[in-house]
Amino acid sequence: MSCLGFPYKMFSSISEYTNSMKAIVGAMRQSEVKRLVVMTSWYTDTSSAQNASFFVRNFLIPLIKSVLNNMFEMEQYLEKECSDLNWTVVRPPGLQNVPVTDKEILTHEGFFVPDEKGYPFTNTVSRADVSRFMLSTLSDEKWTRKLVAMCCK
Ligand SMILES: NC(=O)c1ccc[n+]([C@@H]2O[C@H](COP(=O)([O-])OP(=O)(O)OC[C@H]3O[C@@H](n4cnc5c(N)ncnc54)[C@H](OP(=O)(O)O)[C@@H]3O)[C@@H](O)[C@H]2O)c1
Repeated sequence: MSCLGFPYKMFSSISEYTNSMKAIVGAMRQSEVKRLVVMTSWYTDTSSAQNASFFVRNFLIPLIKSVLNNMFEMEQYLEKECSDLNWTVVRPPGLQNVPVTDKEILTHEGFFVPDEKGYPFTNTVSRADVSRFMLSTLSDEKWTRKLVAMCCK
């Protein structure tokens, strides 16, 4: 399970997500480990944020675009070059340092979790609830080679 994170750069791209994933995948193949759960984010395809809030569209996404772009490349690397592994990509919204909840976890195989009108269901989730979902995917074959956005109801 990887929750690795790297700082954004305003005026250039970053490559730590793809580089670290290639190292992880190489080590997994060498040691015959098959299962990988990795955390990325909502909106790794930044064009998917057209219905996000004014703040997210105009401040947050431009600020962290280098991170989202490299996460997207990492996701594509897993999709295109890692069909021998049982990977799951978990995409959460903004992370909060608050206690775990017992709220229902909502999932969507897309770049964010939409409400009934197609707008983002929320902007945030507890880090502990992301852990709760990531751990649950370990024993659920439903998420094999899937990219899943999540949040809590
Ligand atoms: N923050 C959010 O609102 C948010 C929302 C959605 C998605 N995400 C993504 O979710 C992931 C986790 O987010 P976060 O906010 O918890 O990130 P974070 O606080 O920046 O944590 C990043 C983690 O990566 C580790 N790390 C970084 N470089 C490393 C290296 N070279 N070798 C080993 N470990 C290294 C750090 O270890 P050390 O502590 O030892 O440095 C830390 O544990 C990130 O990929 C982030 O982009 C974040």
